[in-house]
Amino acid sequence: MSSSCRRPEHSAPPEMFYNQEEARKYSQNSRMMEIQSLMSQRAVELLSLPEGQSCLLLDVGCGSGLSGDYLTEEGHHWMGVDISTAMLDVALDREVEGDLILGDMGQGMPFRPGTFDGCISISALQWLCNADKKTHSPPKRLYTFFSTLYSSLSRGARAVFQLYPENSSQLELITTQAMKAGFSGGMVVDYPNSTKAKKFFLCLFAGVSGVLPRALGSETSDRTVSNQVQFSGQRTRFKGMKGKSAKKGKDWIMEKKERRRRQGKEVRADTKYTARQRRPHF
Ligand SMILES: C[S@@+](CC[C@H](N)C(=O)[O-])C[C@H]1O[C@@H](n2cnc3c(N)ncnc32)[C@H](O)[C@@H]1O
Repeated sequence: MSSSCRRPEHSAPPEMFYNQEEARKYSQNSRMMEIQSLMSQRAVELLSLPEGQSCLLLDVGCGSGLSGDYLTEEGHHWMGVDISTAMLDVALDREVEGDLILGDMGQGMPFRPGTFDGCISISALQWLCNADKKTHSPPKRLYTFFSTLYSSLSRGARAVFQLYPENSSQLELITTQAMKAGFSGGMVVDYPNSTKAKKFFLCLFAGVSGVLPRALGSETSDRTVSNQVQFSGQRTRFKGMKGKSAKKGKDWIMEKKERRRRQGKEVRADTKYTARQRRPHF
């Protein structure tokens, strides 16, 4: 990560940068179209949706609807929010399947609680880290966005953001506000050793914490490798467990069962015996 003066979010506010000329590229430039589709494919994979089910998804910074097209191809319904009228006009011209909403994510997501089964966002989140107006406070706008997104997701749903972070303090700003809003999760960095292929995905869990999916292009199978950073807003959960392993505790087992249920796998029903303490065998 290095800061660069060529970053689009430094040149103008998003509603100005994504003008008619920029928006046209999204319907004409085949490389651009392919990138949106590939990023969306990976984001959906990281959502870990139940197999074979059609879900209602939110696309934040949906732009011209190329990412939405991928959701449609996968059999999902979607709604998209974007701040640029030029980008949304391209989506309308392309007659995308999703419902389109003109809005600024920094002002919050205007949906009823529990509306969505998941959320994706492609190359949009880093725009929230800039103050485009005197009244803009990036931490506040990030918090407003994450807290309203959190409530619009069903419990156990995930939100996956592909983003281009400027530096590590920007990543910290983003993850801190996401945690404050109640999310757990972390960063998955695909192809961490390749300058060109390296991609950052912020994977957030609403309601329950889960294990981060494995990053692509990482050589080791160890889940705690440096291309994954996990955080949890539920820091007090393991209080009073001095010396005991958090793994295999009741919380850990319940979370694992819940995750497998969300993946559509067969899981035994919870009973009073679930995760009970067993006497040691000698
Ligand atoms: C790289 S484009 C995403 C393109 C989109 N996935 C597509 O298929 O066309 C990023 C989008 O984020 C949107 N965006 C940036 N800041 C935003 C904000 N504060 N609120 C809503 N959308 C925003 C931009 O308008 C732009 O359309």
